[in-house]
Amino acid sequence: MEQARVRKDIPALRSMTYLDSAGAGLPPLSVTDAMKAIVDDWSRTGEHWEEWLLDVVECRERFGKLVGAKGREIGVVPSVSVALAAVASSIDFSRKKKVVVSSLNFPTNIILWQRMRERGILMGVEVLRHRNGVVPIEAYEKMIDDNTALVSIDYVSWLSGSREKVKHIAEIAHRRGALILVDAFHALGVFPFSVKRDGIDVLVSGFYKWLCGPHGVACIYAAEDLLKGLDPAYLGWHGIEGNVIERLRGGRDPFDVPFSQSSAKPSRSAARFEWGTWATVTVKGAIEAMKFAVKNNPSSRFKIIRELKQELTAGLEKVGAKFLTPPLETNLGGGIVTFRAKKMEAVVARLLKKKIIVSGRFGHVRVSPHFYNTGEEIERFLTAIHTIKE
Ligand SMILES: Cc1ncc(COP(=O)(O)O)c(C=O)c1O
Repeated sequence: MEQARVRKDIPALRSMTYLDSAGAGLPPLSVTDAMKAIVDDWSRTGEHWEEWLLDVVECRERFGKLVGAKGREIGVVPSVSVALAAVASSIDFSRKKKVVVSSLNFPTNIILWQRMRERGILMGVEVLRHRNGVVPIEAYEKMIDDNTALVSIDYVSWLSGSREKVKHIAEIAHRRGALILVDAFHALGVFPFSVKRDGIDVLVSGFYKWLCGPHGVACIYAAEDLLKGLDPAYLGWHGIEGNVIERLRGGRDPFDVPFSQSSAKPSRSAARFEWGTWATVTVKGAIEAMKFAVKNNPSSRFKIIRELKQELTAGLEKVGAKFLTPPLETNLGGGIVTFRAKKMEAVVARLLKKKIIVSGRFGHVRVSPHFYNTGEEIERFLTAIHTIKE
């Protein structure tokens, strides 16, 4: 991978010091060009529905390759929050009614389960408290029991940037007969991993952060042998067995026979999580984002991200920063460094005046360099933060 070439493909990097990929990654021109092209073509030549449906199939296949799964194990949906709801409504909570989550999860991956408890679908939601940005593995050991149906965690925390010991937690969950669901939004595009090696049952992720893709599209992975047991409470016409994509792929006309009005059987594949028509433009963008991710080798990316993080942490230590992010030696993490800042809004605003983009989160400043950032940009940030501290 050649960083100079990558930077050329992302024009926004020329006008600012962008250190907020945990908020949203900067898309390369290949992503936005593909999206523009489809919008333009749509206006000039009309809808190409059947062709666009096959983009969804390509999106599933490419996502599957990224996480080490088959295309039929992937469903394409509009957002991570929708993905979580689709999975939540498919799990059998009739026998075991407890869900264990981390307090470091993104809000949807906590409030969704609390709402289900409030509606009487779940009996308990155990929110594991973090200590200095990390949930100790012992807390999982203690709280995951035989009544636990699901453990739902974020691979890398959006707040502290700590990386969960997913494989270990999956082992604990499986020992107790629970499923493990992982939100990998801050892992995909940062470091390589495989759902099978990690023992992940269900995974969700979007595209608009470290994958440098668009909003409005996300994927669900569900292990093939579990699909049958993930029985959606709600089905749309794209989620049923014999849906239009399945018909097209079987060489049939999508409307050759009517859809049953007496029964709604879910598709045997992860299409069972897909409800209605996709935003074609964003699916195109997601495909290009995944090509970009594969082209720019995921393992060398992480090496750069780690080096930038090291530089950032060392520089911040010199100005006495108090980190929420655990040290690299104890937690490899993703690409996030978060430190305390009482006047968070003022710090973020003053950096913005210097065209340095970071984000503020509940009394903290979060800095998140990606593989397209340079050591000079980190230096620029550190110089600026130094003057702000003074
Ligand atoms: C870990 C994580 N999951 C989910 C989301 C939200 O995803 P969506 O808006 O697609 O529901 C975010 C957004 O910041 C996030 O950080």
